[in-house]
Amino acid sequence: MQYPGNYADHIRRVLLSGQDLQDAVRKAAARIDETYAGKPLLLVSILKGAFVFLADLSRAVTIPCEIGFMQAQSYYDSKQSNGTVNITLDLQQDISRYHVVLVEDIIDSGRTLALVAEMLRQRKPLSLRILTLLDKPERREVSIPDVESLFTIPDVFVVGYGLDYGEYYRNLPYIAELSE
Ligand code: IMP
Ligand code: MG
Repeated sequence: MQYPGNYADHIRRVLLSGQDLQDAVRKAAARIDETYAGKPLLLVSILKGAFVFLADLSRAVTIPCEIGFMQAQSYYDSKQSNGTVNITLDLQQDISRYHVVLVEDIIDSGRTLALVAEMLRQRKPLSLRILTLLDKPERREVSIPDVESLFTIPDVFVVGYGLDYGEYYRNLPYIAELSE
């Protein structure tokens, strides 16, 4: 992956502005407040793509919660999945004591998430829900229950707000379609 120089030169269009994202994140946080008030809550983020979403979501949530991280890699530095998923970082918490919300950046084929969700279910959390920022339903290969998605997007490759292409673009404050 070459150093992209100026991000703006590689962006076709902005799909979701920073304001769109903040509005949706605030509403999702309000639903979490309502559902889990008074209950032990663990927000689990799958690195790296969900780190921005979790950072904003967790600061919009007002009830006490813990944060945990996992890393599952299915994409390396190309636009294609290599078809395998590796858990390279696992949680430290014993999740049987928590209501778990698994926070994802995007569901594409669903393969990564299906595997991680199944692994977490086997550990018998008090409950498990999946919250994804983006969903590309046209690309789904594996169906996933109990998912809430904030935005449905068409089958285009997007970057920004945590999502990368070749490890760049994660720091864009909006979601954009790449031009190449
Ligand atoms: P899945 O296993 O096919 O659902 O895809 C899992 C991962 O692929 C996501 O968590 C992202 O890291 C990555 N991915 C899928 N679509 C995109 C995209 O449009 N832009 C950037 N990353 C993507
Ligand atoms: Mg991801």
